[in-house]
Amino acid sequence: MLTNKTIVLGITGGIAAYKAVDIASKLTQAGAKVEVVMTESATRFITPLTLRAITGRPVVTSMWEPAGEFRVEHIALAEAADIIAIAPATANIIARLAAGISDDILSCTVLASKAPVLVAPAMHTAMFLNPVTQENLARLKARGFIIVDPASGKLASGGQGVGRLPDTEIIIAAIEKTLTRSSDLDGRHIVVTAGGTREPIDPVRYVGNRSSGKMGYALAEAARDRGATVVLITASPHPGPSGVEVVTVETATQMQSAVAKATVSADALIMAAAVADYRPKNVSPTKIKKQAPGLTLELVRNPDILAEAMGSFIKVGFAAESENLLENARQKLEMKQLDIIVANDITETGSGFAVETNRVTLIDKQGNVTELPLMTKREVADKILDRVGELLTKR
Ligand code: C5P
Repeated sequence: MLTNKTIVLGITGGIAAYKAVDIASKLTQAGAKVEVVMTESATRFITPLTLRAITGRPVVTSMWEPAGEFRVEHIALAEAADIIAIAPATANIIARLAAGISDDILSCTVLASKAPVLVAPAMHTAMFLNPVTQENLARLKARGFIIVDPASGKLASGGQGVGRLPDTEIIIAAIEKTLTRSSDLDGRHIVVTAGGTREPIDPVRYVGNRSSGKMGYALAEAARDRGATVVLITASPHPGPSGVEVVTVETATQMQSAVAKATVSADALIMAAAVADYRPKNVSPTKIKKQAPGLTLELVRNPDILAEAMGSFIKVGFAAESENLLENARQKLEMKQLDIIVANDITETGSGFAVETNRVTLIDKQGNVTELPLMTKREVADKILDRVGELLTKR
C-alpha cells in the first residue's frame, strides 16, 4: 500500500515533533518515499539531520536554501506528493492553512498541491479546544482535509486532557486509508445532482425549495478527489468545483434530460438534488400583474427522475424527512429501486439545508442500516462514496 508512494511529511513546532521521527521511520520501512518538510520552529525541537538519516532523503526546512534535488521546492514537492501528512500540526499551522497564508515552505507546499492533506493536531488542551482552533479545523474539514483527532492523556505542558499526538499506528492507518480513498474510484464515471430545482411561474417568479446544493457539491468534490470522472448536474446558482464537468439546469424536466444523457456510460448516479415534485401547469410568458385579489396556481406532477432513471449503474437517493425517517426512507429505497438511500432528518440541528454538517443514516438494498454521527457534508460524502466504491468492486 505504501510502497513507492511519495509522502510529504510536514513537521511543525510542538513538543510532539519528536514522535514524527517514529512516523518517518515506519513509513520509510513500509517502502514509502518520505519527503520531510519542517517549519523553522520544528527544527528547534528535532534536527533535520535525524530525519535525513531516517528517510535517506534531503530534508526541506526553508524556501531560501540553495535548491537540492527539487528546483522550485514547494511546487516540485506539491506535485510529487501522493499525500501530505502534517504531524504534529500546531494551532499555528492549522490557522495559517485555514486562512490560506503561505509564508513558509510547508504552507506553500500545501497551497500548491492537489494531493490529499492529513492534519494531526497536537497541542495543549486549551489551545485545541479554543473556538478559533475548532473553527479553523472545521473549515479545513469542509474543504476536504482529513483531521486525525488528537488523543487524550498526560500532556507535556502538565495535566491531563485532549491534545496528544495519537500513536504512530493510528496516523499511519489514517494515511493508508486516505491513500486508498485517493484512487479507489479511478476510472469510474459518477453523476451527481445537486441543488433545488426552480419551476417557473412567469419570467420573474418560480416555485423552489430551500436546498443549497452543498451536499451534492461535497459529493462531486469527494468523488473527483478519489479519481472519478464526475458530471455534476446542478440547479444551484453556485459555481461548480474545478475538475468536474458542470451542467447547470433550472427545472426538473431539464434535470431529467441532463441525467439521461450523463448516465449513458455512468457507474453511479447519486441524486442529492431536491427536485420539485410539482411545477406550475402553465408558465405565463409575461410577468403576472397583481390586479386580481388572489391568484391560484395549478400544479402538475414532475417526473421522478431517480425512479425513472434506467441503466445498470448504482443508484443512490436521499430521503430528507421531517417524520418517520427510517420507514419513509426504506419505502423510497424500494419504490425507486435504489442500492443505497441516505436518510436525513431535516428537523435536527446541524442537519439538512444550508448548513455545513449533516447527520444521516445509510440504508442499503440488503437492509443494512448504518447510523452516522454528526459530521461535515464532505465527510458524509466520503462515507457514501466508500459504500459506492465497495458496491462497484463487488460487481
Ligand atoms: O420522493 P422524494 O422526493 O422524497 O425522494 C427523494 C430522492 O428522489 C432524492 O434523491 C431526489 O433527488 C430524488 N427525486 C427525483 N425526482 C423527483 C423527486 C425526487 O429524482 N421528482
